[in-house]
Amino acid sequence: MSRGPSDEQQFEAFEIGHMVFLVLDYNQPNPLFRAPIGDSPKNILDIGTGQGSWAIDVADLYPSAIVRGVDIFPPPVTWMPPNCVFEVDDVLREWTWTESFDFIHMRLMYGAFPLEGWDQLYKQAYDALEPGGWIEQMEFDVRVSSDDDTLKKEHLLWGWGAMFIRCAERAGRSLRTHETMRSAIERAGFVDLQEEKYKIPLGPWPKDKLLKEVGHLQYAHWNAALEGWAMWLLTHFGEPEPWSNEEVQLFLAKVRMELKDPYIHAYNPANRVWARKPTKEELKAKEANFKVETSP
Ligand SMILES: C[S@@+](CC[C@H](N)C(=O)[O-])C[C@H]1O[C@@H](n2cnc3c(N)ncnc32)[C@H](O)[C@@H]1O
Repeated sequence: MSRGPSDEQQFEAFEIGHMVFLVLDYNQPNPLFRAPIGDSPKNILDIGTGQGSWAIDVADLYPSAIVRGVDIFPPPVTWMPPNCVFEVDDVLREWTWTESFDFIHMRLMYGAFPLEGWDQLYKQAYDALEPGGWIEQMEFDVRVSSDDDTLKKEHLLWGWGAMFIRCAERAGRSLRTHETMRSAIERAGFVDLQEEKYKIPLGPWPKDKLLKEVGHLQYAHWNAALEGWAMWLLTHFGEPEPWSNEEVQLFLAKVRMELKDPYIHAYNPANRVWARKPTKEELKAKEANFKVETSP
């Protein structure tokens, strides 16, 4: 929605966020994504690439592929593998890539577009994919939960996400992308939809070693990202009226205290969805069916 007061700090947050996801799926054969794209993809696109870490790692993993990372801001990277290309563009504008993609990826794009923008984007992605190509998206729920009632109504974190969702709605953006993406991807024509749900611990409270590490990283991620998430939104669309800079700072200082509280066992829900564009044969069969159904 807004990059916040300091790009450097936001890029640091993106980098830590990337590590959160890598550790979260450490036990998966490929922690970078789940779509079964085969061993020799040719063209991969990362939409809203941010710091570019995902695109760089995927380019390293698939030397056969050209991996493009696109963002409205240039990623602050000085080195990238030769098969990784960064481009500055607004993905809601007409796409000018001439090649078709085998795989299109998005992560943490919540709040980037209004709902019609999302429909347009999935349609553009569908059109730009090879038949049989894959799309994948991973998003957080900005709301914070706990399963053992250690997060209570009196905590600021309790109402944090719901307030952000309301403020973002006033700004014409939805922060419910993790809820809406599955049906929007299906509406765009994708098939074979699959979904994985996660609980990302906020702080190192879990007993499980891997989740404890994820919680450490997610705490650092929040710490680095907090001001960028909150400052622009609350000073423009805060409730009941826009907040002052000082009010936001004070609020964030209290939130930071809660984040450090080892007795609050909070987590962010997150979802990953991946789906396939129909193959040439499936598209032909669909077209033939459509002709039969609509013929007099
Ligand atoms: C929260 S960041 C996520 C970065 C990265 N995907 C990751 O997982 O670390 C969202 C990114 O989307 C980019 N973005 C927002 N609107 C965009 C648009 N219309 N076209 C291209 N990129 C956009 C922002 O500049 C930002 O870098």
